[in-house]
Amino acid sequence: MKKLVILSGAGISAESGISTFRDAGGLWDKYPVMQVASIEGYEADPELVINFYNERRKQLLDVKPNQGHVLCAELEKYFDVTVVTQNVDNLHERAGSHNIIHLHGELTKVCSSYNPNNPKYIKELKPEEFEVKMGDKAGDGSQLRPFIVWFGEDVPRIADAAYEAEKADIFVIIGTSMNVYPAAGLLNYVPYNAEVYLIDPKDVYIDTERKITHIKKGASEGMKELMRLIAEG
Ligand code: OAD
Repeated sequence: MKKLVILSGAGISAESGISTFRDAGGLWDKYPVMQVASIEGYEADPELVINFYNERRKQLLDVKPNQGHVLCAELEKYFDVTVVTQNVDNLHERAGSHNIIHLHGELTKVCSSYNPNNPKYIKELKPEEFEVKMGDKAGDGSQLRPFIVWFGEDVPRIADAAYEAEKADIFVIIGTSMNVYPAAGLLNYVPYNAEVYLIDPKDVYIDTERKITHIKKGASEGMKELMRLIAEG
């Protein structure tokens, strides 16, 4: 089976009703990014940051995967698929994808404030446990915090993602502005003879000389078009 790697971002979840970050009216227009998505912001006001992610986690109860996510899962019938996502929602899982690398963490998990990546203290929350409170403790006695990779923190899963990208026969970039590294740099690991597709309704600046087939559509329609194109190829 050929290897197909998907790099997804906020745009794939837009049609499910989750805001993107950098589009007009996106999350970073409403909340200062460095306040709610940086380690400095968390240290300055942990309660504000914990509440911000409580709200995002609660929203997961109201949203559903869209056809874009569903078609990513359906590709597993034809390809060995790995989804590398920058999203912290669980919509790829709920649509049925099996191999998912969350580069920026997962809303459904919480961890230690001392050592966010110690697997001993990473805990999966049940859907009804969406609210983390000040004073809730991880196994090491520290404040329980969202299992999210903030600006200023390591991206531990980037090595796994690069390993998958290196094996790609087909690489699909969907719904990401390619502004955030190291995620945006994954394309550099993709073999030069691999086919690369971009699904995004807008133009996206990608720093590369290589040929990229831009399917200028939203996630659902764009994934349908991708299925047609790769079936023909
Ligand atoms: P952005 O908000 O930067 O980019 C979203 C992209 O999705 C844009 O290129 C949009 O044109 C596109 N888009 C909008 N609607 C779409 C649709 N219906 N179908 C397909 N694409 C659509 O989001 P990301 O690139 O994911 O990190 O942002 C990367 C990281 O920056 C996030 O993971 C987050 C943020 O800061 C952290 O919080 C650590």
